[in-house]
Amino acid sequence: MSRRIGPYELRNPWVLAPMAGVSEQPFRVMAFRAGAALCPTELVSAQGLFHANTRTLRYLRHDAEVEQPYSLQLFGGEPEAMARAAMMGKEFGAQIIDINMGCPVKKVTRSGSGSALLCDPARAGLIVRMIREATGLPVTAKIRSGWDHQNRNFLQMADALGEAGVAALAVHPRTRAQGYSGKADWNVITELKAHVGEKFPIIGNGDVKTVADAHRMLETTRCDFVMIGRGALGNPWIFRQLEGGAAPTPAERCATVLQHFREHLVFCGPARNVPPEAPAVKRELPAVSQFRKHLAWYAHGLYGASAFRNAVNQLDSAAHVVEAVERFFLGANVDAAAPTDDYDVDYRQALG
Ligand SMILES: Cc1cc2nc3c(=O)[nH]c(=O)nc-3n(C[C@H](O)[C@H](O)[C@H](O)COP(=O)(O)O)c2cc1C
Repeated sequence: MSRRIGPYELRNPWVLAPMAGVSEQPFRVMAFRAGAALCPTELVSAQGLFHANTRTLRYLRHDAEVEQPYSLQLFGGEPEAMARAAMMGKEFGAQIIDINMGCPVKKVTRSGSGSALLCDPARAGLIVRMIREATGLPVTAKIRSGWDHQNRNFLQMADALGEAGVAALAVHPRTRAQGYSGKADWNVITELKAHVGEKFPIIGNGDVKTVADAHRMLETTRCDFVMIGRGALGNPWIFRQLEGGAAPTPAERCATVLQHFREHLVFCGPARNVPPEAPAVKRELPAVSQFRKHLAWYAHGLYGASAFRNAVNQLDSAAHVVEAVERFFLGANVDAAAPTDDYDVDYRQALG
């Protein structure tokens, strides 16, 4: 079992999954602080980097003190362009380049990126090789088990990427055709790890909802790292609990939500095209709306969560958020009867 990715010896086997619209700097920092060993960015477009549009540049922002190592996930289908984008990422501080080879969304696959790379292992390998040679950084990749049931080629992908010098390989064991339906097939992870041996680390992913699930994945599949996505939504403490730490008290939960919110406000900055003299509500509204989903996830599994969720949808100013968070979370206790697998995720955002 390896804890090493390139030159980085990671402190434990627990990794936050890249999640578009979620794994922005403030959430990654929360996860790192709670104990996650690696938190890649959400997928960032190579083309977007070339155009340096504001939105893409926002994805690159990171906290170099906390985010160690800082892994940037890129998507694109053209090896040379990907190498150039990775060089730009390196200039922005990326220490690991991760390549998205799993995104099922048409907008992404149309250009030969994301899960379309599963249909062309040689090109996928070339992307890894060219980025590695251009940047000198460790290059990781994240795949699905295949394009569809008839084409589950994860072993072939592992061979091509291994030959190209991949530093670690994450697998979400659903096909592109499955999207998020059905169960993640952990046998794929077991098979992949047995096939690859110690050549490079395997990061298992898919349907890890609890601490027990994560340990079970590690033990049954023998993978080197476990990557957690939806199970960490509103629950960065899962990383601490995985290392034997305690669940949060209501006071700690409240303090963390407020800290996350404050860092999110700074990260988002004031609304664009709104003059500075406009009322605070107008300037804060975009950041507040974007944070509503986090509030709903933080409330998940607590008594009174659904009423809180409804109330949160009416909030429009930072002051109201702070007030509502203090009112709800300081007294909120765990509802043991709440379902654990009801993720409440908008799958239009679930790009992986
Ligand atoms: C909202 C959302 C956004 C996602 N965005 C990305 C992404 O940007 N890059 C990626 O490789 N995977 C992405 N994924 C896929 C996850 O990284 C992960 O593979 C998937 O959620 C399965 O893991 P889980 O069962 O632990 O959630 C996304 C998933 C969700 C739910």
